[in-house]
Amino acid sequence: MVSSVTSRQAFITSVIAFLRKYGFDGLDLDWEYPGSKGSPPEDKHRFTILTQELSAAFKEEGERTSRPRLLLSAAVSSSKHTMDAGYEVAALGKSLDFINVMTYDFHGNWAPVTGHNSPLYKGSQNYDPVPFYNCEYAMQYWKDNGAPPEKLMMGFPTYGRTFKLSGSNTGIGAPASGGGSPGVYTNESGILAYYEVCAFLQGATKGWIEEQKVPYAFKNGEWVGYDDERSFQLKFMANPAKQPDKWSVS
Ligand SMILES: *[C@@H]1O[C@H](CO)[C@@H](O)[C@H](O)[C@H]1NC(C)=O
Repeated sequence: MVSSVTSRQAFITSVIAFLRKYGFDGLDLDWEYPGSKGSPPEDKHRFTILTQELSAAFKEEGERTSRPRLLLSAAVSSSKHTMDAGYEVAALGKSLDFINVMTYDFHGNWAPVTGHNSPLYKGSQNYDPVPFYNCEYAMQYWKDNGAPPEKLMMGFPTYGRTFKLSGSNTGIGAPASGGGSPGVYTNESGILAYYEVCAFLQGATKGWIEEQKVPYAFKNGEWVGYDDERSFQLKFMANPAKQPDKWSVS
C-alpha cells in the first residue's frame, strides 16, 4: 500500500469515506512496524510520506466540505532499535496530531528472568542490561529526536505480564521459565488483564519495585508485573515528555 502514490491514494480515499460514513473523528495508524518484522528499510521514509499525504488530504477534505478536519495519529514503538529503523521522528511530529507511544511490553515471558511490563524508570539490576526498556527513556528519545512534547502520549497498560518462577527467588530478575497460567477471560499464558490481576492478588504477596516505580505480585510459583492506581499516578506526574526543558524558566 505505501509503495506507490497510486496505492497510497486508494487507501487515503477509502479511509476518508469510511471515517465519514461511520462518524469517526480520525485515524490512528498502527503499523508494527515500518522497517522491521519483514518491512523493508525504505518503508521508513514511505511511512513519513503516507502520514504527509494523509494529513494533506484530511486538511483539504475538511476545508472543501466545511467539516472539522479529521485527526491523524499513530501508535508507535517505544523501542530504540525499532524507532531508529522505522521513524523519521521530526517529520512525523509535523504531520501527526498526536503520537501514541506504546510504552509497554518492555519485559515479558520471552526473557529467562522476571521483569516488568512497563517500568517508569530503568532498573539497576542485571536483568535489565540496556538503558532503554522503560517509559522514561522511550518518551525522552521521542522528544530528543524532534517530536513536539505536546503531541507525545505515554501509553498506560491496563494489563500485566506474567512468569512461571523456576526457583525460590520471587523478586525482580528472578529465574523464570515461560509465562504464568492463562487468565480466565483472556486465556493466554504470560498476560493478565488488570481485572484478572485483581483476582490474582487475592492471597498473593505484593511487592513494589522502588527504582522503577511499579508493583508486582507472586503466588503459587507465578509472578506478575502490573500497573495500579499508584503507578499510574506516578507515571502521570513524571511523564518526561511533558516536563519543560531543564533550562526553561516558564
Ligand atoms: C484457550 O486457548 C486454547 C488454545 O491456546 C484453546 O484450546 C481453548 O479452547 C481456549 N479456551 C477457551 C475457554 O476459549
